[in-house]
Amino acid sequence: MKDKAHIVVIGTGGTIAGRGASSVNTSDYACSVLSIDEVLSGIPQAHAIARVSAEQLMQIGSENFSTTHLLTLGKRIDTLLKQDDIDGIVVTHGTDTIDETAYFLHLTLKSSKPVVVVGSMRPPSSLSADGPLNLYNAILVAGSETSHGKGTLVVANDEIHSARDVVKTSTFKLESFRSPYGPLGYVVEGSPRYYRTPARRHTLSTQWSIDAIDELPEVGIVYAHGGIDAAVIDATAQSGVRGLIYAATGNGNVAAHVVGALQRARRRGVQIVRASRTGSGIVIRNAAQPDDEYDWLVVDDQVPQKARLLLMLSLGSEQRSADLQDAFYRY
Ligand code: DGL
Repeated sequence: MKDKAHIVVIGTGGTIAGRGASSVNTSDYACSVLSIDEVLSGIPQAHAIARVSAEQLMQIGSENFSTTHLLTLGKRIDTLLKQDDIDGIVVTHGTDTIDETAYFLHLTLKSSKPVVVVGSMRPPSSLSADGPLNLYNAILVAGSETSHGKGTLVVANDEIHSARDVVKTSTFKLESFRSPYGPLGYVVEGSPRYYRTPARRHTLSTQWSIDAIDELPEVGIVYAHGGIDAAVIDATAQSGVRGLIYAATGNGNVAAHVVGALQRARRRGVQIVRASRTGSGIVIRNAAQPDDEYDWLVVDDQVPQKARLLLMLSLGSEQRSADLQDAFYRY
């Protein structure tokens, strides 16, 4: 019989490492205060299913994650995955930007070994804390042969999500993590069960490798609303960004009075990408706006915060608009 899988759990902070003064407060607490060893001490059951090693790489709320943090985390995971004696990685992470970090890893890691990013909505000090079971399940998923080759995964609330699709959708509910096409599978009675696999390219089949990336160009997001001021677009375009994701209303509609500002930004060399603030659905090229004529791009079905990461990576390796557009259809 094969030995237990060796899983490295990397702590980065978040609510899963938080502590509140009251066990009934699930929103008012300090996050990122417990060490990864303290977090793991809450689930001694994990040692029955895996050989667990832990390391504290960071201790921050995920709203503080920058490009530098993404690169530091990605490179550390890359180093660990290259070791023959390590079978999988679990990253404990704040939930605010868990979808962004997981997607970045999904696009840049060069391994078929499982990488699972996990967080919790309630701190360990609260009644019905979700962190302990989420973390146990994440270790289980990372140690399972069935998780190989599926890209980076996010495990929460008994569900296994693809990093490409998952988004945090609620400020406080346990069922906050949603994928527009549903999770890849569930953790049921102590074992992962998959029902589908990611269709788009990830990890070994992408054009990026984390060990070759040392910096990324900046890309900004402008969130549309009724009465939006074109000055916001001008200011973003002049801030040094190489791309601007316009989180438009509905299916990528752009108010007539800001079309000129986006065209000005494009003439400055800033790539303009039409996205949607709705949270799901497809933005069709040349439908709501003449993208070919303006030399703008569309996100396909990607949410603005992940479209930003994809454009940052794409701009680092491609310059032609056609290639950048193609990336949104490939990944
Ligand atoms: N500070 C937030 C973060 O780290 C807390 C939210 C959470 O972890 O659930 O993302």
